[in-house]
Amino acid sequence: MLSYRHSFHAGNHADVLKHLVLMLILENMKLKEKGFYYLDTHSGVGRYRLSSDEAEKTGEYKEGIGRLWEQTDLPETVSRYVELIKRINYGGKSLRYYAGSPMIAAQLLRPQDRALLTELHPSDFPLLRNNFKEFKNISVKRDNGFQQLKATLPPKERRGFVLIDPPYELKEDYDLVVKAIEEGYKRFATGTYAIWYPVVLRQQTKRIFKGLEATGIRKILKIELAVRPDSEQRGMTASGMIVINPPWTLENQMKAILPYLAKTLIPEGTARWTVEWITPE
Ligand SMILES: C[S@@+](CC[C@H](N)C(=O)[O-])C[C@H]1O[C@@H](n2cnc3c(N)ncnc32)[C@H](O)[C@@H]1O
Repeated sequence: MLSYRHSFHAGNHADVLKHLVLMLILENMKLKEKGFYYLDTHSGVGRYRLSSDEAEKTGEYKEGIGRLWEQTDLPETVSRYVELIKRINYGGKSLRYYAGSPMIAAQLLRPQDRALLTELHPSDFPLLRNNFKEFKNISVKRDNGFQQLKATLPPKERRGFVLIDPPYELKEDYDLVVKAIEEGYKRFATGTYAIWYPVVLRQQTKRIFKGLEATGIRKILKIELAVRPDSEQRGMTASGMIVINPPWTLENQMKAILPYLAKTLIPEGTARWTVEWITPE
């Protein structure tokens, strides 16, 4: 069953948080001249038209990237992220497209870096392939993203970053992310890994934290932005990124911008954010 389509959600508050973290990790990887490997296990299509029926139907981007688009007081870090989105809007004034994780990465990778993008959806995969056909150092594959950690790690570069961003429409995804990390870490313990997670039911999300704690892996940072308090009702109340082996600067970079994101993305005043270690060094 593959019914999830990211086009309904592209550019929402969860994407903003996820893509800011993605950008900061990739920027950090680029501080060293040596090339690295980037694996995006659940890629989506890479670029979204915000006037599409799907995006307009939910209007989620209006409460995400839409709330940052015209701000004149963006913190430096947030401004670099908005600039990446401006670039795929032809530097234009109006917000027409949103970049998925592969397009954020494609703009940051250098010729010595390399990426693999996997996507399973029969309709989304051809769109993804088409969006990246001009990029020499980016390969796309219609395959199960979770299996790519076992299949492609360790990278020949011995430097790498893996983004795992499943839809969680199947409950087993909450366990599969932990299994995938175990597989990856066993092969490549010095890599950086980021897992995106939603908070729909807090108990489900906790399964990931508990599962990761049980692996014994150290240096796991959690970054979360809640738009409203946890609730038993349907719907996502918060989202976050779990980062294993984060760049040492990430914790403070996120602590510096989350107050701004919270007040700008959620002007209603119900936002809460946390940056904390699931397991420290
Ligand atoms: C949340 S979206 C990805 C969004 C994208 N990472 C971004 O930030 O722009 C999740 C994607 O995973 C795809 N998917 C679901 N199960 C998958 C699997 N086992 N392997 C690869 N892709 C899968 C879905 O079709 C969907 O496009």
